[in-house]
Amino acid sequence: MCGIIGVVGSSDTLATLLEGLARLEYRGYDSAGIALVRPGETWRARIASGTESVQALKVECELAPSGFASGIGHTRWATHGAPEAINAHPHLDCSGNIAIIHNGIIENHTELQEQLESRGHLFNSLTDSEVLAHLIEESRAKGLELMEAVRESLLLVRGAFAVAAMDATEADVIVAARRISPLIVGTAPGVTYLASDIPAILDRATAFYAVNDDEIVRLGPEGFRAIDLEGSPVRLHQLSIDWDLETAEKGGHEDFMSKEINEQPEAIRATLLDRRRKDGTITFDEMRISDEELREVKRVVIVAAGTSHHAGQVAKYAIERWAKVGVDVDISSEYRYRDPIVEVGTLVIGVSQSGETIDTIQAIREAKRRGARVVGVSNIVGSSLARESDAVIYTRAGLEVSVASTKAFVAQVAALEVLALRLAQLRETLPPHDVDALFKGLNHVAKQVGRALERRAHVEDVAKQLLGSRDFFFIGRHVGFPTSLEGALKLKELSYLHAEGYPAGELKHGPLALIEPGVVVVAVTTDLFLHEKMLSNLAEVKARGATVVAVATDDDETIDALADYVLRVPATEPLFTPMVDVVPLQIFAYAMAKGLGRNVDRPRNLAKTVTVE
Ligand code: M6R
Repeated sequence: MCGIIGVVGSSDTLATLLEGLARLEYRGYDSAGIALVRPGETWRARIASGTESVQALKVECELAPSGFASGIGHTRWATHGAPEAINAHPHLDCSGNIAIIHNGIIENHTELQEQLESRGHLFNSLTDSEVLAHLIEESRAKGLELMEAVRESLLLVRGAFAVAAMDATEADVIVAARRISPLIVGTAPGVTYLASDIPAILDRATAFYAVNDDEIVRLGPEGFRAIDLEGSPVRLHQLSIDWDLETAEKGGHEDFMSKEINEQPEAIRATLLDRRRKDGTITFDEMRISDEELREVKRVVIVAAGTSHHAGQVAKYAIERWAKVGVDVDISSEYRYRDPIVEVGTLVIGVSQSGETIDTIQAIREAKRRGARVVGVSNIVGSSLARESDAVIYTRAGLEVSVASTKAFVAQVAALEVLALRLAQLRETLPPHDVDALFKGLNHVAKQVGRALERRAHVEDVAKQLLGSRDFFFIGRHVGFPTSLEGALKLKELSYLHAEGYPAGELKHGPLALIEPGVVVVAVTTDLFLHEKMLSNLAEVKARGATVVAVATDDDETIDALADYVLRVPATEPLFTPMVDVVPLQIFAYAMAKGLGRNVDRPRNLAKTVTVE
């Protein structure tokens, strides 16, 4: 985790770094720091101030001297070493000339540190990252240029890194490199930037380039050049970016989460745009798998984490029903270590909003190693997932800043259902008019999500009445089950209340023992196949004193007798319901969190993109 930024050749170095760090806070925010470098001088400021670290760093930097054209900055999510100023980046070498920032984990740092200490190096932090500064120092002492020194140092490390290094004895140069952790480079006339992610430099750079694994880039005011770890020149892939800064800001809402909840109809519409050719064929954004291969798929495995995993669970129902192929949905952090079976005809679908979640990237890499074809579903053009997949469907949800995923979920479900329909089309498991009707229905969902959003005030009112509750069970059947998991995840990560998602039919196999007065059961009851069974499950929890909140369709007249509170949503085709039903659950979690005074955009202990295992 962590966000990194760097600039060289700027007349506005400090503001560039501080603004960029503020936009990278979603990657971690427990401490922050910058280093400004000019010939013979390195100026550093670091601060650990919880969720307000970047803000506090700004205040600290009011004392910064002017006239520095280059600098690097870091916002941290602690892995090794407590979130304290001493462990905040940048880290310096023994001379104080070399400054480094790092996102990732240096797995062999203990052994490297022991060797470095035995050669007289003094360490000032408890991080894994500091070894990089001292390794570079040793290579520089041999007379190597900074780029070569970084290359030589990286040959010694194991693990993941997006790293940037500066040296006051070779000022006006930043050397950056990547393995696994994300890194991009940006250029503008006379200025060159690096960052973990595009929004950090969106309004400053005019061209953007992706750095691949084991590539090293030397940035100077005049531009950049790149080499691989063997020292051979490489070309960086230019990214086409059509975001404006407005997208990266709150757009008049109190917080990003509120903005992003409201953007859901648009996220679904954009994701579905131009998906069908005139002849009715459904298309992906990038396709390096033949129709023949897709037609012959024998088994689908979906790998994802968190909310993306819940979207994957919804997709299982759609793919099995429409395309008649068996689907397993795996937690990506479990997949690669389980010695997974990949038989001929296995299609692996990696789902990740960021496209950088390390567990999911490693899972698809493992699947590829074992011979699977991989489809990536990502919100970020040119992300690691997109680049490493054989085919890509982008969720065009726009930038999602809030740590809690909302619009990404509905866009992922829409994209995965497009994929399910394409498989059904190729395998001829649905007649063309059914594919047509379902595709049209899918296009209609954005409107239904919009109507669900109009009921916000009522959901907020229900949340207000339940503010004193501490235990929540979210239950559902069929696709109502992954929707329940998502509702529970939203509530726990935002409000820090205990919330669990369960298949409604599973309650009586254990969890029913926990149901008593004071416990709230939130039930997703919109799935018309199993409605009666859901009503029986509600009667069971009601009889044991639970308070029942039901998500029910507008025309459901049976629910009022069993539920204490009803959150109404428009009815839709059962497999589309998660996109509509999740809306009141998101608003409920948001309102509970706000009522409890939580920071909804930046819940404690979490970061937007999880780039460590
Ligand atoms: O970027 P990804 O979709 O791969 O992220 C996966 C999870 O880390 C993410 O969905 C996480 O669970 C969110 N905080 C949920 O709101």
